[in-house]
This record gives sequence, structure tokens and C-alpha cells, in this order.
Amino acid sequence: MASNIIEKLNWRYATKKFDATRQLSEEKVQILKDAFNLTATSYGLQPLKMVVIQNKELQRRLVAASMDQEQVYQASHVLVLCIELELPSQYIKQHFNRVEDLRNTPREILDPFEDSLIDSFSAKKEEDVSLWMAKQAYIALGNLMTVCALEEIDSCPMEGFVPDQYDDILGLTEKGLRSVLVLPVGYRADDDFFSELKKVRRGTSEVIIEM
Ligand SMILES: Cc1cc2nc3c(=O)[nH]c(=O)nc-3n(C[C@H](O)[C@H](O)[C@H](O)COP(=O)(O)O)c2cc1C
Repeated sequence: MASNIIEKLNWRYATKKFDATRQLSEEKVQILKDAFNLTATSYGLQPLKMVVIQNKELQRRLVAASMDQEQVYQASHVLVLCIELELPSQYIKQHFNRVEDLRNTPREILDPFEDSLIDSFSAKKEEDVSLWMAKQAYIALGNLMTVCALEEIDSCPMEGFVPDQYDDILGLTEKGLRSVLVLPVGYRADDDFFSELKKVRRGTSEVIIEM
């Protein structure tokens, strides 16, 4: 099994050209939605949402906001990972209410933790909270890329886009969100030159330190 996972991770690559005629099944898309929701986040707060786009007209408009990277148009679906614009105390309270409902955890155990998180987040600068939320989005990106590889779905992680333009085109600000990462998903084109290229990595002997 372990070597199979490594094979799959070697199979995946940042797809530069998708086969625009192939679409992911509903079942595959549902796997990606579930994987996003199952992503571990710090304190379990999940300050994230994922926009799932399967709309060629929107995808065409997003290419111009993505340094003209055509993957955004060709891909079956485009996943946009977003962070919350704010993390008010109410948001943290909702999380603890969910813990109480789902696990029947007594309030005397939850309350001190809830209060300390509310205190700690309200003492942070807004930009530090946004940075913390963006880090959570990167965890989701890594998780999604691995799940894509296991499911033989091709993907291209992307930072090369203009978040303000995405937020405008997708109406994200009104939803209280800001785009931070993009992941077009689908199936590689037969003639994607990059699919045959060797992986360029520093190598385990260079990146691993054993003690
Ligand atoms: C956070 C992140 C952002 C990236 N942004 C882009 C991008 O905008 N466009 C692109 O073609 N590739 C992008 N890449 C792909 C990387 O260049 C690629 O993953 C890396 O060179 C390793 O190659 P491989 O993924 O094909 O193994 C990005 C990768 C990551 C992890």
C-alpha cells in the first residue's frame, strides 16, 4: 500500500493542459468536497470555504485573472479555496456549540477553552488572523492534491492569480470571503508536454535529517 501511494504521488504533477472534453463524475467531485471538509485545521475551527466552479463562462473570465493560465478554462472544475474575512467571537462560539452537540461534551470542560480562544483571537492583529487562516487553506490544498492523486484526478495548485479579481468575479466579498488558492481539477490532455517530465526534487538525502 505504501509504495502504491508513492507511485500515485509520482503520477501526479501540476497539470498545465487539461482535456477540456472530459468531466469529473459527481461521485469524484463529492469525494473532493468531503476531503475538503475533513481537512484538519488548527483548533478544528475550519475558517475556510471552497467554491466549486463548473461553468465555462465563469472559467473563461477567471483565466484573465489567473495570469492567462488556460488550465482554469480547460479544467472540468475549478476549486477556489477561501478564508473568512473576519473571525468574530460568535464564530468561535458556534464551533464549541457543534462540539457540545456532536460529542455531548459538558460545558464546564468546553467553556474555559472557548474563553481562552476568544481572548487569544481578539488580542491578535487582523492581518495575523488572516495569515493564520491562509495557512489552514494550504493544509486543505495539500490534502486535496493527495486525494486527487489517489483518485487519479489531475490538478494544478495555483497561487498565480489576482485574489481581488477573483473576489469580484465570484462575488466573494459579499459572502464574507477572500480567495487564497486555486485548484483546477480534471483530466490531463494527452499532449500535455509536462506529464512526461521527470520530477525535480532535492532528494530525501538532502531534505531529511535523521537524529
Ligand atoms: C502553492 C503552490 C502554488 C503554485 N502555483 C502555480 C501556478 O500558479 N501555476 C502553475 O502552473 N503551477 C503552480 N504550482 C505548481 C508548482 O510549480 C509545482 O507543484 C512544482 O514545480 C512541483 O512540480 P509537480 O507538482 O509537477 O511535481 C504551484 C504549486 C504550489 C504548491
